[in-house]
Amino acid sequence: MESVKLLLIGAGFMGQEHIKASRGLESVVYVGVADTNIKAAQNLGSEHCLNSFSNIEHALEKTKPDAVDICVPTPYHLSIVKKSAEYGVHVLCEKPISRLIDDALEIKKIADKKNVRIMAAQVMRFWPEYVHAREIALSEKYGTIL
Ligand SMILES: NC(=O)c1ccc[n+]([C@@H]2O[C@H](COP(=O)([O-])OP(=O)(O)OC[C@H]3O[C@@H](n4cnc5c(N)ncnc54)[C@H](O)[C@@H]3O)[C@@H](O)[C@H]2O)c1
Repeated sequence: MESVKLLLIGAGFMGQEHIKASRGLESVVYVGVADTNIKAAQNLGSEHCLNSFSNIEHALEKTKPDAVDICVPTPYHLSIVKKSAEYGVHVLCEKPISRLIDDALEIKKIADKKNVRIMAAQVMRFWPEYVHAREIALSEKYGTIL
């Protein structure tokens, strides 16, 4: 299986968590770290032997990722989705995608127009207890959800 190449954008708390969580996964490989705070990018980059960048366009051009992993504060999600979609790159975006409905709709519009996929990094739906609850609900074993 070929690994999905991810460019991490945002080397703060969640960015560090995402890189840690990817350890041991064969399906993804990080190819770089971008952060407007170059020191943060460099610190995380050097820890994981990754090139670091302070400019997102530069990082996209140099690393040619399949997808970006957006871990910056929520108000910046839309602008980074726009930049990434311009490069035809798919997006994994920390939650909430946006705090504004209009921005969320704009993100969907961009994804449709540029034919890229957007996924919110909402991990809970993959937790075993949530998967199990969904299966029970779909099976209607205990009745229909009202
Ligand atoms: N911290 C949590 O427990 C948590 C939980 C769930 C979701 N999230 C979400 O994760 C996202 C990131 O949160 P965090 O806690 O990791 O934040 P953080 O402040 O720890 O890290 C954000 C990083 O992004 C960088 N940054 C800021 N603006 C940027 C830009 N325009 N371009 C590139 N880099 C930029 C900052 O320099 C910083 O290093 C937010 O959307 C938040 O809602 C956080």
